[in-house]
Amino acid sequence: MTTRIPLEDSWSDVIRKARRGLGLSEADLARQCGLQVEPILSLERGSLDPESLAKIALPLKLQPARLLAMSRGEYHPGVLQLPVSGVGGVDMFTSPWNDFEVHSYLAWDARTSVAVAFDTGSDASELLQFLKKNGLKLELILLTHGHGDHVFELDRMVEATGAKAWIGNREHLDGTENFAAGKEFTLGSLRIETRSTWGHASGGISYVIYGLERTVAIVGDALFAGSMGGPMISYEACLATNRKEIFTLPPDTLLCPGHGPLTTVALEAAHNPFFP
Ligand SMILES: [Fe+2]
Repeated sequence: MTTRIPLEDSWSDVIRKARRGLGLSEADLARQCGLQVEPILSLERGSLDPESLAKIALPLKLQPARLLAMSRGEYHPGVLQLPVSGVGGVDMFTSPWNDFEVHSYLAWDARTSVAVAFDTGSDASELLQFLKKNGLKLELILLTHGHGDHVFELDRMVEATGAKAWIGNREHLDGTENFAAGKEFTLGSLRIETRSTWGHASGGISYVIYGLERTVAIVGDALFAGSMGGPMISYEACLATNRKEIFTLPPDTLLCPGHGPLTTVALEAAHNPFFP
């Protein structure tokens, strides 16, 4: 993969997510940082005023220098490579969903030619072709969460491959089996650890894959490069589960989000404004 995928969220998306996540109205935030409401509305519309941005960072519990760096376009993780070697690999498949794109991933064990898909995206054609072209048998479909853009092709993938589909037990989805976070899956020589990263979705799961050249974590919408998925269930849980389950992974763990570019634990620990 050599194309540079833009960040999923801009600095103004970040402040909007934080304000809503903290349950603050624009007026509440204005009061807390001694600004009028208008400059806040204008920041959230994407019009940059560094002075006002610096003032709202702390009440939003965002790291000010990182937020400002993001507003100057200074943060992007760059183009990171997924591991592919003689032992197996991981590939990314991107499909359109409304006006954005969603990624699904495939990991395989080269010795046994078995594969596991993480999410389905909106169009599994490329992923299914990849399996065929490389003589891989899909054994598992592991879902990061049940949002439509991540599971749209589930029936088609199960029908085409006979793979067994799983989702965390805080969500229910037809055609899947439930498991409790902590369960481990094995696929050939790959070991897949499951971690509860709920908050964006009620049953959000991150999958950590061991046995390849580099440790890879498929995080769904729990964390994005420079941001994180919208706190649809609980903002506090988004922050807490990411800290507990993702930021404790080894720093060079490659993070594969559902949207936006690949990143690493070290890069997010140094640049993500949500995690000072
Ligand atoms: Fe989602």
